[in-house]
Amino acid sequence: MMPDIVLDTYEDGERNALADAMEIMARAFDPAYGEAWTLPQMSGVMLMPGTWLTVARLDATPLGFALVRSVLDECELLLLAVDPVWRGRGIGNALLAGSLSTARRRGITSMNLEVRANNSAIKLYEKFGFEYVHRRPAYYRGNDGQLHDALSLRLDMMM
Ligand SMILES: CC(C)(COP(=O)(O)OP(=O)(O)OC[C@H]1O[C@@H](n2cnc3c(N)ncnc32)[C@H](O)[C@@H]1OP(=O)(O)O)[C@@H](O)C(=O)NCCC(=O)NCCS
Repeated sequence: MMPDIVLDTYEDGERNALADAMEIMARAFDPAYGEAWTLPQMSGVMLMPGTWLTVARLDATPLGFALVRSVLDECELLLLAVDPVWRGRGIGNALLAGSLSTARRRGITSMNLEVRANNSAIKLYEKFGFEYVHRRPAYYRGNDGQLHDALSLRLDMMM
């Protein structure tokens, strides 16, 4: 069942919010793919105008986050992550829906993202209507040396 979460949005690289996101980051990304970002990478992106971080919380506890960067009327979903213990209860769905609502309020008309071709998150993106733009063969290298394609997806938010 979906827990009674709240979504908080940050634009200013507020330190506690970044720390919350980093806490989820450490647990959410499989180290096999080296996809987790470092704190300097997160702080650097948060300094760019048009970037926002959405944190899902149950009471004060962070359960997941989404990071979006926008330029004019386009945006990119840079990261979406939910604490493994809390997966499968609609939090990823809520974070993506919340990020899209924020984007719409800002007059943004499309969201892009890039994802490893064998990531189960693709099901979530398809559910929201994201469409395939292109495939980059052998773009990600796992720490076992195996190569994985990257998929670029795009959601036309005007539809
Ligand atoms: C992707 C991720 C954010 C989904 O979070 P979540 O809270 O489990 O997602 P939800 O419970 O809202 O599920 C939403 C939909 O995603 C799909 N989905 C999520 N996890 C899935 C899984 N392990 N296998 C198959 N489908 C899955 C389902 O279609 C689901 O919809 P449904 O419940 O209507 O069937 C989470 O798995 C995660 O943090 N993954 C690691 C980080 C990552 O790879 N992020 C994406 C690239 S940045």
